[in-house]
Amino acid sequence: MDATAPVAPSTGSHPTGSRPGPAHPLRPARTLARWAVRHGMPAAYLSRAARRGDLVARLLRDPALRDEPYAVYEALRARGPLVPTALGPVTTSHAVASEVLRSDRFGVGFDWSAAPRAARWALSFGDDPAVTGVAEPPSMLVVDPPDHTRYRRLVSRAFTPRSTAAAEPMVQRTADTLLDGLERAAGRGNPVDLVAEYAAPLPVLVIADLLGVPTERRDDFLRWGAGAAATLDVGLPLRRFAAADRALRALHDFLREHFVRLRRDPGNDLVSRLVTASGEEALTDRELHATVMLLLGAGFETTVNLLGNAVVLLDAHRGQRDALLADPSGWPDAVEEVLRFDSPVQITGRTVRTATTLAGVRLPSGSRVTLLLGAANRDPDVFPDPARFDVTRAGARDHLAFSAGIHYCLGAGLARLEARVALQALTERFPDLRVSGRPVRRDLQTLRGFEHLPVTLR
Ligand code: HEM
Repeated sequence: MDATAPVAPSTGSHPTGSRPGPAHPLRPARTLARWAVRHGMPAAYLSRAARRGDLVARLLRDPALRDEPYAVYEALRARGPLVPTALGPVTTSHAVASEVLRSDRFGVGFDWSAAPRAARWALSFGDDPAVTGVAEPPSMLVVDPPDHTRYRRLVSRAFTPRSTAAAEPMVQRTADTLLDGLERAAGRGNPVDLVAEYAAPLPVLVIADLLGVPTERRDDFLRWGAGAAATLDVGLPLRRFAAADRALRALHDFLREHFVRLRRDPGNDLVSRLVTASGEEALTDRELHATVMLLLGAGFETTVNLLGNAVVLLDAHRGQRDALLADPSGWPDAVEEVLRFDSPVQITGRTVRTATTLAGVRLPSGSRVTLLLGAANRDPDVFPDPARFDVTRAGARDHLAFSAGIHYCLGAGLARLEARVALQALTERFPDLRVSGRPVRRDLQTLRGFEHLPVTLR
């Protein structure tokens, strides 16, 4: 994830700045410094490039283009497998994206050594562990081995196929309870927002249950998660960045208190295990915050998009939806096709570790490559007639919606389970559900999904 945003290096391991209490007098200046390097300057640069016609800059700066990015992807594809853009080389090719994701010639850590001194100073001055987001170290998303291996090993036991399958009854119960609420909210034929009532709460309740964090805080998590999701993007306006900072600070505050409770009274859950781990497995405070925040945030900020995108696609393809009602064994393939056709994570990026050649282009060490996953998933070399939505498509599962290589989505099995259960339950409970009115897309670059999705149930 975090396709485009350069990632600030983490300094130190103890989050002294993360202690609650009176705000540090330099906090506003630090926020401004972080914003200027990570968003303000890139925004100005991308806006200039967009005005010059750079396609990727236009895509990142123009919400209308992002609503319908697929024509831009095809225009880029026509220019070749690796296209020079304002962001550096960008690929729409499945083969090239796959190669980058699977190769140890590329990593996720951002190389700041070549950045101007002022930018490096501002990043280190602005560094504040109390607002560190999921796209900053030590989040495993943006950390290379050996630390990545250590973090991932600690949490992967909770996401094995067996652990995931054991969650199915809980996912089903959660879906059924929310559907009861949806029915009540819809009253007598009034439109209801499927995102607010179903697609958003379902994944947050599921991941909270699995991690052993209190499900009653679901509305807080959703608010904080929306802030965290925005920080995956590049070029946020200061107001949105400051709101995301506040959300992250509140989430870190919650986690800190939660860890104190668990240290006193550990349960049998993953977070208790992480908090009480000792010896070689012990995580620093900063690592603990980053790991739990990522599991929580990645656990719901992505699946909500898969559910919303699926409902809209199935509404537009009623025949396919009816076929799934008649034969529910098709749901797993349908979920793969939605992931391929309208991917919840559209963009990711990698850093060249040592100078290399990719698609015939020489790339210097430390440079970035941007992978348009949503475009790779429509590569005609892999998916015949890629712009056709077909829930029976053979090979849909070859998509890169969950990435590939060592950062392959840890929660892919869980997301697949949630989508299968949630979509089947929704369709069977409300076979006459229709999208009514205009669904509104989330104003995000990296994630693709709906903010509001009005539906009528009958
Ligand atoms: C439809 C739902 C989801 C999608 C599309 C998705 C997609 C992705 C992608 C594309 C990456 C890798 C990004 C990269 O390579 O740069 C990733 C990583 C990750 N995902 Fe998911 N994800 C989903 C759901 C989940 C869920 C439910 C969890 C629950 C824990 C989760 C946890 C993670 C974690 C921890 C990573 C980091 C893995 C690593 O860096 O080794 N994801 N996800």
